[in-house]
Amino acid sequence: MTTAPAPTPTLTAADIPDRFTVDSAELQAEVSARTPILFRADGEPYIPLPAPFERFYLGVMRHWDTPHDVAMMNDIRVARTLVGPPFPLPVRASKNWLLKERRDVTAIFAAYAEGKFLPAGTAPFSILRELKPDGSEVYVGQVTVFYCGDDTKRLTPVNAAWEEWRTRTKVWEIGAAIHPDYQRTGLATAAVDVFMHQWVIPQMGATELRAQCFASNLGSVKLWQKYGFVEEPSLRGEVTVSEAKGGGVEPDMTLIWHLK
Ligand SMILES: CC(C)(COP(=O)(O)OP(=O)(O)OC[C@H]1O[C@@H](n2cnc3c(N)ncnc32)[C@H](O)[C@@H]1OP(=O)(O)O)[C@@H](O)C(=O)NCCC(=O)NCCS
Repeated sequence: MTTAPAPTPTLTAADIPDRFTVDSAELQAEVSARTPILFRADGEPYIPLPAPFERFYLGVMRHWDTPHDVAMMNDIRVARTLVGPPFPLPVRASKNWLLKERRDVTAIFAAYAEGKFLPAGTAPFSILRELKPDGSEVYVGQVTVFYCGDDTKRLTPVNAAWEEWRTRTKVWEIGAAIHPDYQRTGLATAAVDVFMHQWVIPQMGATELRAQCFASNLGSVKLWQKYGFVEEPSLRGEVTVSEAKGGGVEPDMTLIWHLK
């Protein structure tokens, strides 16, 4: 969670409450009828994972998540497999993400309140948590999607039959990270399924997604292939791994999914 733009000086993480909540029962009902978003008793929005992961959900980042986020991203078992983020990840980067996500979710709900539903410009449900039967919660990981920027041109065909509101030009980069204690249980598969197929494609209107990973990262390659991502040979490269992460040069690859 490092590529979030620097926040404007007028708003800092300290200015925002721990949780984003929606008070209006009417708005909650309207949103739940038109999107996959549900609401907790306090009005906090979330997107649930299906069985057998009913205890898990995608939520809007809270202050509470920051230390867990930084700890996971700085766990060498996770950091070593990631191409992009700096290592060690500074707390500042996580707080910048918190701010960005809060702005994004605020903008989306402001649009909902005016009856504007599609497209949602962003995906402010990046945190995967487990809600235990006793009410306690565990930070489990994150799923993210970034706009690649105007310089990244799409490499896949546009279909004239797509709905008008879908983006035909924007390319997005998707990513996932699961805490090592929870890996290889199917959670990334389930979380990415919900994130892609309930939010990024139907709500944001994405038509081309990319995932970048080290070629040696078999779990990641397998994860994206499950959802129809195919390696793009022209985007193969090599990454110099920082000394802090063990050094060396590693081949990386980009896998692309596109809407047919
Ligand atoms: C990649 C990552 C997100 C996968 O999360 P996960 O919850 O363990 O994934 P799942 O349990 O859903 O497994 C997905 C598939 O990959 C396979 N897999 C997972 N880890 C693997 C590994 N280390 N080696 C080989 N295969 C692996 C699983 O067996 C599964 O395939 P299957 O359904 O055919 O059995 C997780 O390993 C992770 O967070 N790694 C660190 C960060 C990272 O590399 N992110 C990806 C960069 S975009």
